[in-house]
Formats: sequence, structure tokens, C-alpha cells
Amino acid sequence: MKKRFEKINKVGGELSLTGDKSISHRAVIFSSMSQGRSTIKNLSEAEDVRSTMKIMQQLGASFMNDSEKIVVEGCGFKGFKKSVSYLDCGNSGTSARLIAGLLAAQKFKSTLIGDESLSMRPMKRVIEPLTRMGTHFNATANLTLPLTINPKSEIVPINYEMPLASAQVKSSVLLAGLHAESETKIIESFQTRNHTEKMLGLPIKYENGKIISASSKKYYPKPGEYFVPGDISTSAFHIVLTLLTPNSELLIRDVSLNPTRTGFIEVLKKMGADISFEDIRTSSNEEFGNVLVRSSSLKNITINSQIIPNIIDEIPALAIAGIFAEGDFLIDNAKELRVKESDRIHSICLNFKHLGLNVEEKQDGFSVDGSIKNFNPIFESYGDHRIAMAFGILSMLLDKGGEVNGFESVDISNPRFEEQVRSIVIKS
Ligand code: S3P
Repeated sequence: MKKRFEKINKVGGELSLTGDKSISHRAVIFSSMSQGRSTIKNLSEAEDVRSTMKIMQQLGASFMNDSEKIVVEGCGFKGFKKSVSYLDCGNSGTSARLIAGLLAAQKFKSTLIGDESLSMRPMKRVIEPLTRMGTHFNATANLTLPLTINPKSEIVPINYEMPLASAQVKSSVLLAGLHAESETKIIESFQTRNHTEKMLGLPIKYENGKIISASSKKYYPKPGEYFVPGDISTSAFHIVLTLLTPNSELLIRDVSLNPTRTGFIEVLKKMGADISFEDIRTSSNEEFGNVLVRSSSLKNITINSQIIPNIIDEIPALAIAGIFAEGDFLIDNAKELRVKESDRIHSICLNFKHLGLNVEEKQDGFSVDGSIKNFNPIFESYGDHRIAMAFGILSMLLDKGGEVNGFESVDISNPRFEEQVRSIVIKS
């Protein structure tokens, strides 16, 4: 579906977003693992989270809508049952990798499948540690989906020094580790999002610049009441749109402010953005609060490699801020962008080239400078929700607007994107 966006003149008012996608996946998985009834408020409406719910249902959990919340009947320790059909993760890497960790510790065989994009994304990163924990896998020659998980023994606890910065891999190993008496340890050199550790109440230590988290049977989840704060990654698009539109001010209510997720706000503030946090609270060990944003003039800065894992999902939105900021925009040390829902380095560079900007594509990033020469662009989403939203907001900032092909991919994380934007655009 091709979507046209016209230039906007002003952003204002307030916005509440549906639940954070990462926290929602975990609330669904942890409540399905618990013995008995849990509730989830403000669950994400993302297609990715629906994929996780459907798989948990196939394994025996049940979900009911009860006005403001979802009521979950979980299965308990090793209480999941074998599914008669394949488990379809759709477009969702988080579903595939986290659920692989859970299935590695069950008593039955399962097969995970996914759509075309997910079937090209690397699974070796979970196959390798979970094999060390005693599980057998059958995958394609490239170690991608379809992936058959064939547990052969009880889970063997491991100490795992992460070879790459990935919260999905970390979570997968920690979830398998919840099924053994002794501790499985994860050692990270780069901080990645820590929702799994926080929501399960796992111990976290900091030693010689490394982050060490651990799981074991005593941390197996119990039924609970989850509140999922608004999606901070989704808010990146609304924040950048507000910053770059003159005379604008936007309040985003009850959004996740977990410090492993707010890296892009730190970057934007260093670029000169007027953004502040208000009314910070905590629920299920997760911080959330309100974010106030005002139009700002921005200057590009050097983005430190340590922060890359914390801004990885927001780089498409930051790149849009970057082309309107003074100086050249440069991202490096970000080769993980190549294995997201699309090859995001390539997707962003091709769309920027289309505007007539000077773009240099590198193995682990890109740089961009120059001025916009094409004022009638048609962008491609490459089937990637965050590329669709990034070039949707860019279109709204161009004098003659712009179009995005394949815009339906926004449903993967935010089916309400257009409705949200309409509600904050002020017509003058
Ligand atoms: C996620 C982790 C990140 C992120 C993804 C969601 C998660 O991937 O890009 O959108 O919920 O754990 P990594 O595994 O590369 O950190």
C-alpha cells in the first residue's frame, strides 16, 4: 500500500501510546509460563506481539479480553504441551529467539517458522548457546528458520560471554536457564535492554566493566499483574517530528523510560533537543513517565559506539533528525542494522539517495550530507515498519510532502501510527 503524507505546519497536544513491544512480548511469555492467572494492562497491539500470543496459545496458555486488560491462564513449570502444528513467528525476531530458549527446556519437539524476512535473519546466535545447554536443533544450511528444537536432556547451566550485543540472545539463554537448579550466567560487555532481568527480578552485577546477570529455577515466573508502559521506540518518530516542526510542543504520557531504552533521547539532547522527563514512576520494576518535547534546532554529534545497542531500533528516526541538523550525520559500529527486519543501512541509504543527498554506505553504518534536491520523493519501506515510519515523518517535513510504498508494514509495531499523527498535527 502506497501512503501519501502532506507537509505539516505544527505539532501540539498530548499522546498516549499502546504498550512497549519488548515489554509486551515478555509479559505474554512470562504470564504464559506462570502457574495460574495473570493480568496485562496496555498490551501492545503490534502484529509481532500477536505472533507471540498465538504461539503461547498453541502451547497451552489462554488469553481473554476483559475490558481494560488481558487475562492470561498460564501453564506452569514445564506445563506447556506439544503443538500439533508449526509455531509461526511471523516477522518477529523477538518471538523466534526468546521462544527458542523456552522450547529448548521443554520435553517435546517444536518447529519455529517465520515470514520471508524473518526466515533470512540469523538464528546461529541462539542455536550456539542453546546447543551448549543440551538442546538439539535442525535448521537450514544457513542456520535460519524453519528451526526444529529437539530437547534431549535436562537443561545444562552455562556461563555465557556474549559474542555480540543482543538482548534477544541474552533473554533466550536466561529463559532456558530458568529450568535448571543451578545458575546460568550471562556476561555482557555492552549493556543491552534489560527487560527480561528486571521483569523476572534476576540478579545483576557489574564487575570490571562487564554486566553479569543470572537465572535459575528459583526465578521461574509466578502469576502477576503487568502494566506495560507506552512504546518508547514508537515515540521516537513523534519526538523527531515535533523537534523538527517549528512552534511545536508535545507531551507523551506514560511511556517506558527504562534507561537501556532512552539512549536516543540522550543523543538528541546532546544534539540540542529540548526534551524533558516528568512524573517518573515504576511498575513491574520498569520505569515509565511523561516526555515533554519542544521544537529545537539540532547539531550533529559523534555517536559513541557504547550507546549503539541502546539506540539500535531508533537509528532510522535519528537519521531523519540527522539530515535536518547542522553538520554531517554519521553512524558507525552498527553492523547489527544489516540483520534487522530489513538491511536498515541499505534501506536508509537508498531512500536518502533518492532525495539527492550525498550518502556513503559503509559495512557498519553510513554517513550523509548535502541538501535535498528531489522534492517529489516516493520512498520504499522495504517491508520494514521502522523504515516506513521514519520516511513517513520525513515526508511530513518536506515542502511538497512525500509517499511511502509498503506502508502497511507499520502494523508490525504500531497499527495506530496514522491515527496518532493525525491527533497531534495542528492545522493552521
Ligand atoms: C529486542 C532486542 C533488540 C531490538 C529488537 C527487540 C528485544 O534486538 O532490536 O527490536 O525485545 O529483546 P537485539 O537482540 O539485537 O538486541
